[in-house]
Amino acid sequence: MTEQTATLSAPEAAPGANSRKVFIKTYGCQMNVYDSTRMSDALARDGYVQTEEIADADLVLLNTCHIREKAAEKVYSELGRLRDMKKERHSDGREFMIGVAGCVAQAEGEEILRRAPAVDVVIGPQTYHRLPDALKRARRGDRVVETDYAIEDKFEHLPKMEKAKIRSRGVTSFLTVQEGCDKFCTFCVVPYTRGSEVSRPLAQIVDEALRLVDAGVREITLLGQNVNAWRAAGPDGREWSLGDLLYRLADIPGLERLRYTTSHPRDMDDRLIEAHADLRKLMPYLHLPIQSGSDRILKAMNRRHTADDYLRLIERIRAARPDIALSGDFITGFPGETDEDFECTMNVVREVKYAGAFSFKYSSRPGTPGADMKGHIDEDVKAERLERLQALLVSQQAEFNASCVGKTVSLLLEKPGRFDGQLIGRSPWLQSVIVDAKGVEIGDIISVRITGTGPNSLYADMVPGV
Ligand code: SAH
Ligand code: SF4
Ligand code: F3S
Repeated sequence: MTEQTATLSAPEAAPGANSRKVFIKTYGCQMNVYDSTRMSDALARDGYVQTEEIADADLVLLNTCHIREKAAEKVYSELGRLRDMKKERHSDGREFMIGVAGCVAQAEGEEILRRAPAVDVVIGPQTYHRLPDALKRARRGDRVVETDYAIEDKFEHLPKMEKAKIRSRGVTSFLTVQEGCDKFCTFCVVPYTRGSEVSRPLAQIVDEALRLVDAGVREITLLGQNVNAWRAAGPDGREWSLGDLLYRLADIPGLERLRYTTSHPRDMDDRLIEAHADLRKLMPYLHLPIQSGSDRILKAMNRRHTADDYLRLIERIRAARPDIALSGDFITGFPGETDEDFECTMNVVREVKYAGAFSFKYSSRPGTPGADMKGHIDEDVKAERLERLQALLVSQQAEFNASCVGKTVSLLLEKPGRFDGQLIGRSPWLQSVIVDAKGVEIGDIISVRITGTGPNSLYADMVPGV
């Protein structure tokens, strides 16, 4: 998954007269987005209604990301603003609680209470089912830190998703199937913030998928830090892998599209590649990070594959599903990266031709092996390499989008457009497409002909009679 800008979750259900209100701000990756919805549901059981107005909130919950220094520091500046808000509220005699959840909570625990005295509750990604209880204790005057890895399965303790809530969130949904990471790439905090790899059991996943589809969801994106490392007991007594899970979910009537993210190249097994060849519902789009194109750097990163392994893997995937589009993650300026190493990354990008990508300057993270390595690279060198890499990736994305013009593609309509009569949908390749739509509605999957490209979206006409 990829860390994105902060997102505010949509408010749900009309607030009742006496209910408390929670404002949730989500940083980081898709899993945090998913977790925020589950925390919102857990709080709803305690009478909390989600609000989009921080001014109305009795509780502010920051669901945080620790992946790069900037992401983590944002949280502390936000906490500074919240401290002032809390003072004001208290002088008016109103309750105002502050909670920190997510990966910064897990990584820094008690330290947050020291650095930000206004914080009431710190709760990690594996313990957030205990949030209502933690708030109760905080209301009695304790400052609560809940970051032990819970022995119980949080999913068993969270309320099941309700139909009305699912509906309010739209026709696409995330579904976490796997959490944590045992890969220990030397730059990355995730194995420390999310713990070791755990797969949710098959029945729990199928049950959640059925609930989502019953409430109108047409597309599900399976989530995991290493989603393709998902393994669980199948009904046939065999150990199932992600490919098997996709075949099972593809059998659900009404579920029209499946995606998954993020995969590690080492866990792309034959069954998963076969699923790409066979399953019409599995969208032809794969996010497969490589991070660097240099074998020397890949080794130092502990990725445990070479650039060539990755390229050969992509060949096999493309042979199975020729129209598949690829995206990736890249890091520039990992310790010891030379100009030649960086050129290797550029060469891999030139060879693969990505439809989209995320790229970052290396950020040294305390506690990771990378932080102690020799040869840290100057910020301006990292930035210069990033700029060159991004220019190439942006041009590849533009090329990919331009190659779609004139094609007829399917579109899942997700939301209204800016102008009357317009709807916005997603193509199989995750492109946002604007269409003048008549006689169709959100949730429909329609055929459109791509007519042009804009800065952030494509434009299309409906194909009559399809
Ligand atoms: N396997 C996980 C990785 C999550 S982090 C997944 O893809 O879901 C997402 C991306 O952030 C990584 O692929 C990597 O490109 C980037 N990243 C992670 N740690 C970083 C660091 N210390 N500095 C810069 N970028 C980093
Ligand atoms: Fe981080 Fe590597 Fe695990 Fe991805 S695979 S979460 S980059 S340690
Ligand atoms: Fe960030 Fe944690 Fe996701 S560190 S990218 S929120 S797993």
